[in-house]
Amino acid sequence: MKILILGNGAREYSIALALQKTNKNIEFYFAPGNGATAQIGTNLNMKDCKVITAYAKASEIDLCIVGSENFLADGIVDLFRENNMAIFGPTKAAAMLEASKSYMKSFLKKHKIKTAKFLNTTDFEKAKKFILNLTPPIVIKADGLCAGKGVVIAQSHDEALEVTHKMLSGESFGDAGKIVVIEEYLNGFELSIFALCDGDDFILLPPVQDHKKLLDNDKGPNTGGMGAYAPSSLASKSLLEQVKKDIIKPTLEGMKAQGSEFSGVLFIGLMIVNNKPYVLEYNVRFGDPECEVLMPLIENPLEMFLACANKNLSSIDVKIKDEYAVGVVCASKNYPYKDSPKALIGIGEIPKNSHLSYAGVSLENNKLYASGGRVLVCVGTGKSIKEAQENAYKLCDNVNFKGKQYRKDIAFQVLQ
Ligand code: AMP
Ligand code: GLY
Repeated sequence: MKILILGNGAREYSIALALQKTNKNIEFYFAPGNGATAQIGTNLNMKDCKVITAYAKASEIDLCIVGSENFLADGIVDLFRENNMAIFGPTKAAAMLEASKSYMKSFLKKHKIKTAKFLNTTDFEKAKKFILNLTPPIVIKADGLCAGKGVVIAQSHDEALEVTHKMLSGESFGDAGKIVVIEEYLNGFELSIFALCDGDDFILLPPVQDHKKLLDNDKGPNTGGMGAYAPSSLASKSLLEQVKKDIIKPTLEGMKAQGSEFSGVLFIGLMIVNNKPYVLEYNVRFGDPECEVLMPLIENPLEMFLACANKNLSSIDVKIKDEYAVGVVCASKNYPYKDSPKALIGIGEIPKNSHLSYAGVSLENNKLYASGGRVLVCVGTGKSIKEAQENAYKLCDNVNFKGKQYRKDIAFQVLQ
């Protein structure tokens, strides 16, 4: 069987690893992939959706799994479907839930799904009036995709006004910031929920906790994510029932009613305030590093991806192991500010119940080099969070590259 995975991160690597562990007869292709995916499959130097679709058709790819949102927003799923080829992910219209924050907020309002009070606008004077009526901190979001950098939590009215001005003028994010969403600040704890969807049915995967800040104790700037663990004990059964009934169900029904039914994985970023879930954002793909801790917990990933792509989720059972997984991201020296110098990666022993998922790496003369950004994720599994965490950090001690930085406290909060 030939599987094509789109993206270049540890997320895509971890999907391939999970499939490879459970099915021996898969040939992997990645576009564009990274230095480590080249060691388990074939990297295709392609970005254009039409080129990728034509390649997949000509080389009889059996299933395409889309890791990264950019391909979805560009309509890769529509192209595959037009050609009757199996693909895991939402159509371009459904991917708008992530591609436009103002669209998402209007959708939430229309379907009466709980979210922070907000204003969508292109007009600075309207933004100003709304901002001055809020009590700081105030959340300002650029409408479009900004690689996870488009959200600013302003600590004062002046900062909020300045940030908004820079977004609307195009100075901060170009066209992606020309519509802004101004939001009230919600104080609670965050939870990531992943629902596998096939247009009609859905299945919840274990809840995951990401660690967005660069430094220990949630200090420093926001990043794409510095580590994660699953399942998170912060999500009680009754909270998950609320999420299904009040958020996932109306979301999928709402999407279907407007002719853009959702299939693939819906990743909902929630803020839990007084035990009530509020939607912060939707993403239309797996989170990174959340995916890296979910994949090792799934016993039948191939069946899962195929059922979503072929619209028969109700006929399968996604089997989840009775285990925990912890992932610690090792990033390069200057992450998330700027590029870092290339550095050779030295890997010692890989302890039992641990493995690596690679992201920012290049392959030269059969050696892996850290090439910047988030470089790799040390994943540990175990019968308890503590055991999984110990296994992840043992591996972390055995992996080195110049400038390596990582958080020492992934999952510590739940263990205190
Ligand atoms: P988003 O991309 O919309 O999820 O925002 C990125 C991060 O900003 C979230 O994970 C939260 O940590 C924070 N955030 C976004 N919106 C709010 C809000 N209304 N209140 C508090 N924090 C928020
Ligand atoms: N870890 C957050 C994200 O993938 O958006």
